[in-house]
Parts: sequence; structure tokens; C-alpha cells
Amino acid sequence: MLDSYAVIGNPIAHSKSPLIHTAFAQQTNQALQYGAIWAPLDGFRKVVESFRQQGGKGLNVTVPFKLEAYQLATRLTGRASIAQAVNTLKFENDEILGDNTDGAGLVRDIECNLGISIADKRVLLMGAGGAARGVILPLLQQKPALLAIANRTAQKAQALQQQFSAHGDIAAGSFIHFSGTRFDLIINATSASLHDALPELPIDIFAHATLAYDMMYSHEPTRFLQFAQKNGARHMADGIGMLVEQAAESFFLWRSIRPQTKPVIAQLKSLI
Ligand code: ATR
Repeated sequence: MLDSYAVIGNPIAHSKSPLIHTAFAQQTNQALQYGAIWAPLDGFRKVVESFRQQGGKGLNVTVPFKLEAYQLATRLTGRASIAQAVNTLKFENDEILGDNTDGAGLVRDIECNLGISIADKRVLLMGAGGAARGVILPLLQQKPALLAIANRTAQKAQALQQQFSAHGDIAAGSFIHFSGTRFDLIINATSASLHDALPELPIDIFAHATLAYDMMYSHEPTRFLQFAQKNGARHMADGIGMLVEQAAESFFLWRSIRPQTKPVIAQLKSLI
């Protein structure tokens, strides 16, 4: 029987993870199968348990189950423990290992694929939900000159600032609070693009931006990326690279082999 993996979420029909992991497996000659599992909102644990009982080796976890996966894990990697969210589970004997590869995926995409070093840069992270939480520590580890978190609800940004204060200096506030501040990198981790909405951003924050990065993606540039370009950002990137890079980190955790991401990113871009 082939080693079995899957992505679990709700909704799940449009997930690109099966395509990505199947491409990785072919490329690295790994004998495995990878599927997509829909779980009811109140049935995450049950579905995971049944997958595990059937011999499943690991899962990618997506919206809205990352917090439940964090609670389900019997052991956590350092980065998952600090993020308090899990996007990768590995089943080994009696253990459920929980990891979070989202932040590493973002950093790899920016540094390796886009060729922009985060060290000494002034970084604005927009949003204070699960997506933002997962990338704060990996961003801080690159030693930016500034990490600012801006959110529609400023208190949530301030709560993250407090929670991560042991790991580095963070500025926090509403979007308008950062009007007039100079940023090199502006990363959208809000879910606004999912609803084709645009956060109410001051237009002057893009004046010096080398890169505007949207963690979401769609077949045409998101409203955030269009707005950033119009207001002076030099380079735009969507979340396809991050999606493939976080998948590669999960694949490495499961199989101890690192697939090449560039051909898979190109394949995905041609399909979206
Ligand atoms: P996720 O896990 O995907 O991050 P979440 O925890 O629901 O989802 O968080 C969504 C984030 O997107 C929040 O930061 C939210 O801002 P609030 O905390 O003020 O709700 C942000 N967000 C969603 N829609 C937005 C919009 N139209 N404009 C600005 N921010 C938005």
C-alpha cells in the first residue's frame, strides 16, 4: 500500500495541494498518494482520527482547522508552538507531530524566488488573524529593520505585538496609524482579497515599497496588488509561490527530501 497523505479543510474542492504534492512525488520518485478531505466544521478530530487509523502518514491542514490541529498535536515544532497554529501533521507511531510551514514558505518565496532579502528592510504586515500570526516569527528571524503589524481592528495588532514581544520589536496599530511611514515590503495577510475587498490603506505607504505581496492569489491581480502598483510599489507578487514553498516544507518534514519548487510554481501559474 502506498503511503497516504491529504489536505483537510472546509471548503476543500479548490485546493491546489493535491496537484502540488503529486508533482513533488513524481519529481522525487516518492511512492505516495495525496488526496483532499472535506471535514464538517464540528468534525475535524473525528475525520483526522479515521484517516490515521487507516494508516495515513500526514495531513496538510487549511482553513478553518489550523487552531484545532494545534490543539490535536501531541508534539509541536518550535515554530508551530509559537504561532499557536498548525498547517502540517505527521503521524508516527502514537505521536501526532504538529508543524507550521506557512512562515517559512513566505520567507523562502520572498528571498529565494523573488530575490529580495528581508534583513534590514522595513516590513509592514497587514492583518492580525491566523494568516498573519503564522508568519510573524519567521519574518522576525530574518532581522528586518522594522516589523509593523497593521490591522483594521488595531487592538488585535497590539495583542500580537505583545504576544511576540519576546522575539523582537514590533510596531502595531491601525492602517492609518502608519500613514507617512516608509516601508520596503508590504505583505497583505488579511482575508480582504478573498472577498475582493481592499483594506483602507493610506496611499503614501507604497511610495518607497520594493515589493507588495498578497498572500492570496486569483487569476488576475488582487485589488490590493492593483492598488499598490498604482500608488508606487515597484514589484507585485501573489501567494502562489508561498503556497508551493509551504507545501515543499511539509513534504520535507514527511519525506526528508526537498523537492524543486520552481517548475511547480510555473505549472500552477499557467493553470490559474
Ligand atoms: P485568517 O485566518 O485567514 O487570517 P481571520 O482570523 O478571520 O482569517 O482574520 C482575517 C483578517 O483579515 C483580520 O485581520 C481582519 O481584520 P479584523 O481583525 O479587523 O477583522 C482582516 N480583514 C478581513 N476583511 C478585511 C477588510 N475588508 N479590510 C481590512 N481587513 C480585513
